Amino acid sequence: MFLYAFGLVLLFLVFRWLRGLKRVPNKCEKFVYITGCDSGFGNLLARHLDEKGFRVIAGCYTEKGEDELKKICTDKLTTLHLDVSDHEKISIAADTIKTLVGQRGLWAVVNNAGVSVPTAPNDWLLIEDFRHILDVNLYGVIDVTLSVLPLIKRAKGRVVNMSSISGRISPTMGVYSISKYGVEAFNDSLRRNMAPFGVKVLCIEPGFFKTAVTDSSALQRNFEKMWERLPQDVKDEYGADYLDRLNDVMREKYCKALDPDLMKVVKCMEHAVAAVHPQTRYSPGWDAKFFWLPLSYMPTFISDAFFLRNAVKPKVSFL
Ligand SMILES: NC(=O)c1ccc[n+]([C@@H]2O[C@H](COP(=O)([O-])OP(=O)(O)OC[C@H]3O[C@@H](n4cnc5c(N)ncnc54)[C@H](OP(=O)(O)O)[C@@H]3O)[C@@H](O)[C@H]2O)c1
Repeated sequence: MFLYAFGLVLLFLVFRWLRGLKRVPNKCEKFVYITGCDSGFGNLLARHLDEKGFRVIAGCYTEKGEDELKKICTDKLTTLHLDVSDHEKISIAADTIKTLVGQRGLWAVVNNAGVSVPTAPNDWLLIEDFRHILDVNLYGVIDVTLSVLPLIKRAKGRVVNMSSISGRISPTMGVYSISKYGVEAFNDSLRRNMAPFGVKVLCIEPGFFKTAVTDSSALQRNFEKMWERLPQDVKDEYGADYLDRLNDVMREKYCKALDPDLMKVVKCMEHAVAAVHPQTRYSPGWDAKFFWLPLSYMPTFISDAFFLRNAVKPKVSFL
């Protein structure tokens, strides 16, 4: 019985792999709009798709990011200045894209831009902290998508949303996960809305990779800043050595768990854009596939036990 089940799973995986090999034709006529191309996955994807012959429209947050990308890529690549938390800039970008793509429409938008700070235990945060992350990671995704959706419908193209494994399970620091849970919900409803139009909506849920978003020194600086502004009674609850203990865990566990091979994620993004039969969801990274996703399906008492066992506890903790 077990062998039959194993055989069926294996058969399904081989079938999915073979089906996923075929790529869409006429890449040089297909425009792909990517947000957050200054660094990390977005930057690598822009370069990778440019190499493969797609017409990349790279949204960059900084002028430096635009200049560097232009230097490396072919002259088929276009850059745009884009802050995904600014509705005005998103509309201006959409107008430029409309002119650029003409009657062909836009083949794909990749909602990649994202931020991870400010982050801290929820009781350290102010409502503005939540707003900042949601503005970029969630409203930015929705706003950018809506701004180009008519062009994507015209091309019967794709929306690729960068979520995270934190969109499937929420560790102890909530803001980032809230934004990614939102991306998941938007992604799922949009996928069902767009299916009748021949538009595919795909989601990428990476595990933990070594980029600016997960940079431990930036995260430590963020924790110090959050700590400084805490009222004394909250500092007393957590204990004067809380930050040191947190930094030890970051050094000893977190940094070692980050995967440096960013191409694992970029290949999934490329597949979502370019495969004739893309997958609905991608979970790049061994940690995502074999640990975080399975943990997300466990009963709450198991996932709680895992997080609480590994969390740095406040001084007053009775656990
Ligand atoms: N690294 C991971 O482990 C991981 C895991 C799961 C999901 N993700 C997601 O992957 C995506 C890409 O992140 P990454 O890991 O490649 O880190 P990254 O190198 O920091 O990339 C994020 C990009 O977004 C840009 N950005 C920030 N705020 C923006 C704004 N308001 N408007 C437009 N662009 C903005 C950044 O520009 P600057 O560089 O100029 O700030 C940067 O180029 C994010 O959505 C992130 O949540 C990452």
